[in-house]
Amino acid sequence: MAITTRRAALADAAELHELAARTFVLATPAGTRQTDVDAFVAEHLSRAKFTDYLADPARIVLLAEDRGTAVGYTMLISDPIGDPELAKLVASAPGAPGADAIELSKFYVAAESHGAGVAATLMAATLAAAAATGAGLCWLGVNQHNERAARFYAKNGFEIIGTKRFLVGEVWHDDHVRARPL
Ligand SMILES: CC(C)(COP(=O)(O)OP(=O)(O)OC[C@H]1O[C@@H](n2cnc3c(N)ncnc32)[C@H](O)[C@@H]1OP(=O)(O)O)[C@@H](O)C(=O)NCCC(=O)NCCS
Repeated sequence: MAITTRRAALADAAELHELAARTFVLATPAGTRQTDVDAFVAEHLSRAKFTDYLADPARIVLLAEDRGTAVGYTMLISDPIGDPELAKLVASAPGAPGADAIELSKFYVAAESHGAGVAATLMAATLAAAAATGAGLCWLGVNQHNERAARFYAKNGFEIIGTKRFLVGEVWHDDHVRARPL
């Protein structure tokens, strides 16, 4: 493997959609209905949505590639948090009082590249990009049953600061909210 990372561009929208469509299900708990996964992909991970994300100045999308083939992606969002409860929770995260917060909204690596160091390389690039925005805190939501991601985020310094809910199709899922100073 020869993993490189780079900021994604508008021309990457189709490849990001394809990667996102096959990796989203990896983050959902066993028993999640395919119709709910499909509904989420259609609503949030379509090629048109990625085109919007890539054009949005508040978002940074990073791609990890193995000799030119996309094997992982992340998305950071620096918009203010809309939900007042969640905003309060993130603002009270230990370690970076009063800091601007940035959301690590998506972190997905292709299944065949798990456990291979791709995620570590992509995390380093993502945290560097997050810090370069001037933010002092990075936060994320992750399904409470996603033990692999929990372990990965914990070893990268993201601590649980609370909970939130996340809608997949017609079903609400319980997330842990994690955060780490940048
Ligand atoms: C989350 C993700 C990016 C991490 O990448 P990765 O290559 O799997 O990460 P790593 O192998 O470095 O770390 C995973 C850790 O979980 C451990 N692990 C693996 N399977 C596990 C399981 N079923 N339960 C608990 N821990 C598990 C691994 O042993 C490793 O810990 P270690 O380094 O202490 O041995 C990747 O698994 C992924 O893309 N998952 C699907 C998408 C997803 O869930 N994204 C997060 C959405 S918020």
